[in-house]
Amino acid sequence: MVKVRRGEKLSYRLSGAARALDVEHAVILKVEDITLSFGRIKAVDGASFEARDGEILAIIGPNGAGKTSLLNCINGFYKPQQGHVYFQGKDISRLSPHKRAELGLGRTFQGLQVYEGMSVLDTIMSGRHIHMKLNPAQAFFYWPWVHKEELEHRLVVEEIIDFLEIEHIRKRPIGMLSYGLRKRVDLARALALEPKILLLDEPMAGMNLEEKEDLARFILDIHEGLGTPIVIVEHDMEVVMDIAHNIVVIDWGQVIAQGTPAEIRINPKVIEAYLGVSVT
Ligand SMILES: Nc1ncnc2c1ncn2[C@@H]1O[C@H](COP(=O)(O)OP(=O)(O)O)[C@@H](O)[C@H]1O
Ligand SMILES: [Mg+2]
Repeated sequence: MVKVRRGEKLSYRLSGAARALDVEHAVILKVEDITLSFGRIKAVDGASFEARDGEILAIIGPNGAGKTSLLNCINGFYKPQQGHVYFQGKDISRLSPHKRAELGLGRTFQGLQVYEGMSVLDTIMSGRHIHMKLNPAQAFFYWPWVHKEELEHRLVVEEIIDFLEIEHIRKRPIGMLSYGLRKRVDLARALALEPKILLLDEPMAGMNLEEKEDLARFILDIHEGLGTPIVIVEHDMEVVMDIAHNIVVIDWGQVIAQGTPAEIRINPKVIEAYLGVSVT
């Protein structure tokens, strides 16, 4: 059983199900009536939900329910045939993924999309590209300035490395790391963007128990320490119930339920969608 280990920083947290957002937080992300079809398959079918500032919102649902497709519509990898995405009140539906990243949408991936030969440090640095003002040609002419800028980026990256406790592997090529550590480096890369919202796609898939516990603790630390709202797609129900403030349940591309962990746990539609899968 996964138990989210609560370190010193987290000792004041209540357990997930009992925790509710104490203040009315503003809506930071609004997904409105999104439909995305691949030929005859409706991957997302009229999905709407809101994520609030300061919350950890989990998206759950059976395999193939459309969770990754929905994240891809939010960050702009996929263009839905219908619907809108609003970020901080602004309609971002027509913006490129790059522009959405510039606005502060950071995300990690379900699969590992990193270059095996790249070092941990360079991989995380690559997450800062949107903050880099000069292109390499300009950099050639303005090297003292570039040096200063580079140093600033390094400082941010070093802080993240420290935060996620990966100093010992900073020089290693990604290809040589365990699966759990690779996922942590992917999280570090997403954090390097200094996101205003973090979208995580099954960050714990394929991890062993200890790696899951570690990652759950880091996610809580990010939320607590940086205040970053988090939208997390996750399969592990116990983790979701423990760390999420609110849960959106997707089945066949549709939102079939939304509520607190305590509400979702006893929702008949959810139990039906998960028939044969433990919801508690
Ligand atoms: N690029 C794609 N091309 C065709 N079909 C896709 C593509 N991406 C997802 N799908 C289909 O959309 C549905 C939802 O997939 P996905 O969003 O990956 O689900 P989940 O992340 O919930 O497991 C599935 O039927 C899947 O096969
Ligand atoms: Mg998926």
